[in-house]
Amino acid sequence: MRKTIRKYSNREVPEALLDRLLEEAARTQTMGNLQLYSVVVTRDNAQKALLAPAHFNQSMVTEAPVVLTVVADFRRTSDWCLQRKAQPGYGNFLSFLNAATDALLYTQTLSALLEKEGLGLCFLGTTIYNPQAIIDTLALPPLTMPVATLTVGWPDEDPAPTDRLPLESFVHKEQYEPYTEERIDRFYRAKEALEENREFCRINGKETLAQVFTDCRYTREANEQLSRGFIDTLRRQGFSLCESGAEMTQKRPEALECDVVRFQNKKDRWVAFVGLWEGRPYEIFTGLMDEDEGIMLPKSISKGHIIRQTNRDGSHRYDFQFENKRGYKITIEGLSGKFDPEYWNYAKLISGVLRYGMPLESVIKLISSLTLDSDNINSWTDGVARALKRYLPNQDADPDTY
Ligand SMILES: Cc1cc2nc3c(=O)[nH]c(=O)nc-3n(C[C@H](O)[C@H](O)[C@H](O)COP(=O)(O)O)c2cc1C
Repeated sequence: MRKTIRKYSNREVPEALLDRLLEEAARTQTMGNLQLYSVVVTRDNAQKALLAPAHFNQSMVTEAPVVLTVVADFRRTSDWCLQRKAQPGYGNFLSFLNAATDALLYTQTLSALLEKEGLGLCFLGTTIYNPQAIIDTLALPPLTMPVATLTVGWPDEDPAPTDRLPLESFVHKEQYEPYTEERIDRFYRAKEALEENREFCRINGKETLAQVFTDCRYTREANEQLSRGFIDTLRRQGFSLCESGAEMTQKRPEALECDVVRFQNKKDRWVAFVGLWEGRPYEIFTGLMDEDEGIMLPKSISKGHIIRQTNRDGSHRYDFQFENKRGYKITIEGLSGKFDPEYWNYAKLISGVLRYGMPLESVIKLISSLTLDSDNINSWTDGVARALKRYLPNQDADPDTY
């Protein structure tokens, strides 16, 4: 029966054997067949001593002949893309999760192979508690993140197998079956009755075994603090969590892609220029389509760029640039000067909340809830809300915008 081994003999783990198993483990399933993982093999005692504190000095780190750190790795794949004229887009949370999944599947497949060979191992979950120390020690580059550690060696102990919950406690037939009080009692009774677990309660001065977990072993405070540390490290390694606004507060590129959205309010025809950053609305400029004072655009134009120019006095000017049918670039300078100052100022406020990452749904609710003095401006806010709605997920363009 498989079990975790934490004590190892002095017998060497041959490099050829380890390499064979490391290679065989690569048969595990992997996303897009990309193998989004790397393994760092540590045999050097000085390196083990540097790794140990990251694992709360668990003795296996310095005592095992081999320490394997498995790393979620989008570095290699991204380098390959760049070298082959492809633009990788993997500095985000989903890509981290994919790489972490790959790395953990690899870890488990390797574990099974190592154990089949008679080797003993211990999985160290502490890898994700202090990832920065591991990154520094192993010189892990951006777009990599350590997710698992195995200490490996020939067993020098034969511990009794640990208990497990009964099958029906974790297998659900067709639908998830709720855990009634009676079922919980039944499933956990045997675990709670074990002498070692009663001893656990006594040592920790706790009434129940569950309290040993919540109050001593895995507390909310520790989990939250370690979560913050993990997220900080994830960001430093180049994996963005993509919270709305996370990137939006970065410096605006000089030119932003922009959609031209036309809408009608009462008799007036309006145009909105919606500046997009990574496909999300970042700023909005609106005004009347008007031959004399406002903006005149060829009907076919639905896209262009908003270019921000800095004036000598440090103020900014926003120009709209589009390509006409013949492929010539045409620039409409100074969008602000073309529009009514009142609308311009409201649009500025709306751009502010967009830039600082308020979720789009909330921005639209906010705009729709504004009740302003004149009928005109109220119908304008309706139009702007409609113009922005098309950027909500699963939203088709509003038939009233054209
Ligand atoms: C996510 C995870 C984290 C773990 N972290 C540690 C660890 O830091 N130290 C340790 O001694 N064992 C660790 N283990 C091993 C478990 O303690 C062990 O698998 C469990 O107690 C059951 O014992 P068994 O593997 O002998 O059946 C970890 C296992 C997993 C899956």
